[in-house]
Amino acid sequence: MLLRQLFDYKSYTYSYLLADEKSREAVFIDPVAGQLDYYLQLLNELNLTLKLAVDTHVHADHITALGALREKTGATTYLGKPGDVACADQPLIDGQTLTFGDIKIQVIYTPGHTDDSHSFYIEEADSRYAFTGDTLLIRGSGRTDFQNGSAAQLYDSLHNKLLTLPEDTQVFPGHDYKGWSTSTIGEEKAHNPRLRIDNKDEFITFMNNLKLANPKFMDIAVPANLGCGQK
Ligand code: FE2
Repeated sequence: MLLRQLFDYKSYTYSYLLADEKSREAVFIDPVAGQLDYYLQLLNELNLTLKLAVDTHVHADHITALGALREKTGATTYLGKPGDVACADQPLIDGQTLTFGDIKIQVIYTPGHTDDSHSFYIEEADSRYAFTGDTLLIRGSGRTDFQNGSAAQLYDSLHNKLLTLPEDTQVFPGHDYKGWSTSTIGEEKAHNPRLRIDNKDEFITFMNNLKLANPKFMDIAVPANLGCGQK
């Protein structure tokens, strides 16, 4: 599988371009609107056909390229709650399989950071990959204090879903603020301080006392993303 981790330095967002090398069918995960020209250039240079564009959740810190990619490439767009987002073609459903070429993406509903958060799991050849959005970050997790977030749900999504994946699964998060690019489920189990809180009530108290400032672009990004990044 071709895998490119792409970084948007304004919002510290990681986006991912994945492709099946035989069929050249590709998928974007969490693409950022400001990078559209670069994405189109990359698809062209690598001779890829974009089949799917998916967001792990409605983002509060950057504007999605989902709508623009659909318009430019004809890709099908998927989001957690298309009822709220008119231009998403399809809903994401827990347990469903999305395919590009011969590669299968398993959709896992992982609410907590937001109530529409999903993670994506792929097994291919001898490798396993989890694209965890803002549910599981490297040595951290997403916040739970807006967009219908819930510390209790995040605890369950982490402990009952993502941490049950094989330990050698490579973790690719939605953001990183320190320059860490990837990890594994086993490494996070051992060293992620938030995962070391294994009492649910303690975790909820910890998350509810973080007192973080709102993301810079939240007032712009959330309404824009409810229109798939387009006016
Ligand atoms: Fe987020």
